[in-house]
Amino acid sequence: MTWRVILDVDTGVDDAMAILMAVAHPEIEVLGITCVEGNTSVDNVVANTLAVLDAAGAPDIPVAAGARRPLIEPSRPSHVHGSDGMGDLGLPRSARSADPRHAIDLLHDLLMQSDAPVTIIALAPQTNLALLLRQHPEVADRIERILFMGGSASGGNATPVAEFNVWHDPEAAAIALDAGVPAFMYGLDVFNQVTIDEADADALRDGPTASGRLAGALLHFQMADDPVNSSYGGHIGDAGAVCALVDPGALHVERLPVRVELAGHSRGQTVVDRRQRAGEDTVHGDGPAAAHPIDVALDVDVPRFARLFLDTIARLP
Ligand code: RIB
Ligand code: CA
Repeated sequence: MTWRVILDVDTGVDDAMAILMAVAHPEIEVLGITCVEGNTSVDNVVANTLAVLDAAGAPDIPVAAGARRPLIEPSRPSHVHGSDGMGDLGLPRSARSADPRHAIDLLHDLLMQSDAPVTIIALAPQTNLALLLRQHPEVADRIERILFMGGSASGGNATPVAEFNVWHDPEAAAIALDAGVPAFMYGLDVFNQVTIDEADADALRDGPTASGRLAGALLHFQMADDPVNSSYGGHIGDAGAVCALVDPGALHVERLPVRVELAGHSRGQTVVDRRQRAGEDTVHGDGPAAAHPIDVALDVDVPRFARLFLDTIARLP
């Protein structure tokens, strides 16, 4: 099985680990990478993404800059990825050039040119995807699935109830969810669980390959930043969404109605309806806007994903 994928990223310490995974995995063909403002500015995201492709010894994959801010909200870069968005690790600036097209045009061209279905792995605020679906609705049929890191059925990180990618651009997430494209939500319920043991992170950081050393440094940055779990290792973060593509059997998944809250203190929350029976909202007709059922990952075999991550990174130079 070969998965044709486009990554949409805000590289990003953990986006970097996801890019390493996707480039390394033998069943994944990365058609292109589109960049969006999120963890850091879109210019930083592009530079960081090109530098990670260098470290991975990746082929010439097109990388394009996209939206510079969310649809409605101002830019609100994350505070947990360092000033450059890459943990201030000081990676050398890449000699690669970004694709001259805007991310929306690169997405459109890759989707329309592909003779097989394409999976979009969305690891960032979904501003690019929303603009694509509004500008080129005809591409919806060309997207096999949007597998997105975002949302939560069990509490937030950016706010008590909202996960960063959805919180950063709630309207974009709502537009993508309502576009009728099959979607798979890899949210905080599983994202927060998958960590690498400190000994394995040390072995990567001190190991023989440039990619492994980068992954180890990124994991150690995560550990240092994560006072709660730092004694248990570093989170692979967005890389878990790539694991979800190639090994979905390690996840407990339910098909549930999900909608994005756009107003009030819970703005940016993904409201995941896990009720087993109709509630008063359906009886009295004052229920929330109709929500589309999507696949939601609710639990994960952590050692299985951790092993997959380590074995895949080990394939890189
Ligand atoms: O909430 C986690 C998401 O926000 C990940 O995509 C990570 O990159 C952070 O930006
Ligand atoms: Ca990200």
